[in-house]
Amino acid sequence: MRAAGGVVILAMIAGSSCRADECQSFSASTMKANGAVAVAKWRTDYPSMRPNPSAQQPWESIKFREAPADYMNAVLGTAKTSFKIVDRKLVGTGQEEWYISQWLDYGNSGREPLMGLTKERSPDAKDLSKTSGDKYQVWAVGFYNKPGAAVFGEVFAEPCNPSFPVAIKFPNDTASVKFLFTDASPDEVTYLQGAPEYDAFIDPVPTGSGPTGHPADTRSIRTLRLLQVDISVKDSRSQETGWVFGTFVWRGPPKGDTLFDNLVPVSLQWGNDPGVYDGTIRQGWTNPDLRDVTYGWDERPTMGFMGRANGPADNIRSSCLSCHGAARTPRASIGLLGSGFKLSDLSDAAKVKAHVDTWFQNIKAGQLFQPFEPAASALDYSLQLEAAVSRMCQACQTGDLRGPTPNVCRSTGFYNRPVCNAPMEASARQRLLGLVPPPRQ
Ligand code: HEC
Repeated sequence: MRAAGGVVILAMIAGSSCRADECQSFSASTMKANGAVAVAKWRTDYPSMRPNPSAQQPWESIKFREAPADYMNAVLGTAKTSFKIVDRKLVGTGQEEWYISQWLDYGNSGREPLMGLTKERSPDAKDLSKTSGDKYQVWAVGFYNKPGAAVFGEVFAEPCNPSFPVAIKFPNDTASVKFLFTDASPDEVTYLQGAPEYDAFIDPVPTGSGPTGHPADTRSIRTLRLLQVDISVKDSRSQETGWVFGTFVWRGPPKGDTLFDNLVPVSLQWGNDPGVYDGTIRQGWTNPDLRDVTYGWDERPTMGFMGRANGPADNIRSSCLSCHGAARTPRASIGLLGSGFKLSDLSDAAKVKAHVDTWFQNIKAGQLFQPFEPAASALDYSLQLEAAVSRMCQACQTGDLRGPTPNVCRSTGFYNRPVCNAPMEASARQRLLGLVPPPRQ
């Protein structure tokens, strides 16, 4: 009997379904896929304490204003030994000190099981290349390093009732890395020719660029290629925002490890260039070698808005920092992106000014985007935390999370009753889930 009991306890420690670092009264994870496929093993065992900030990071000796590509490569280097390709999947080495966010595994854009990818905005025609169409999907998985993950440890100390202070503040040396994959055809996006293929359990095509909202139970295994890798770093030398954000594109022909060795820096920014209406960008950099590869045609003259930084998968009306500076819960009523701006408005000085003045501010940690609309918490550029709150509160609303309503759902106004709903029938649940567009739209 004693031996049998020991086996049970060991199984509980090893089995992911029993891990106390995930919410036990939630059982509708989109990572499960009815047990049909193997599930990615990413870390959510966040460090319990913030690491000692004295440790020197390899990017700290590089001046990002003067040597942006070197800075980016130094940041990427800290991920290179942690990830590899195995069996058509991106996996960790098992020793990686990179962690995913809780609560992104719910709803129509919730994590798929094979690589833990969440659904992103579908690019418009000619976003990815001069010849790309608009029927493609983009799926992504993002990680925080130890200093960042320690903040997640504080927030998710109680996984079913996370605690959000009025202002989240990530420590210096926080870094995040995000891998974005697409099913776009390499015939149209020629820099992807020869790219390794990955399997993911995703939506049927075509999806188009409009509102998607495919129910998670219509997914199947499809082929993706790595398109873009995003990085973000909390760096005190960025007096503008406290952050440095940049992105790489996978550019063939394949070489070396065919993962990191093919990544070419696209753009980097440490500020949004507020008040700059004519494209004279001083708080960012775009790689001139990628003209006519990732930008430089009528529909995509620049990567982000008027020369600000963004990646191929991103909307030209925005920049990395404009979207991420809007991280707060709940979101401001105008959202993350001024999607109403038309490219033909670029010649209209008043419209350009209004767009820049609204979206391209330099927000600091603790500062709220659109401060006249109250929020429960300012999220210091973490849109994963923002998505985590809204998905968890949705799960409470549909009854897929049971028990007491998480405090943050009440303080944000997402769901006000003291106890989460009783589980709903499938069509009512889907109606609620369909109301929410993919997060990066
Ligand atoms: C239109 C809005 C938008 C733009 C533009 C954007 N992002 Fe994000 N980003 C998001 C959202 C939403 C998430 C969280 C959900 C997810 O991971 O898919 C996210 C997540 C991330 C993460 C994971 C950590 C975090 O902050 O949540 C990183 C790193 C990141 N983005 C970097 C970038 C970089 C670099 C750029 C520019 C090249 C960029 N992003 C442009 C919306 C945007």
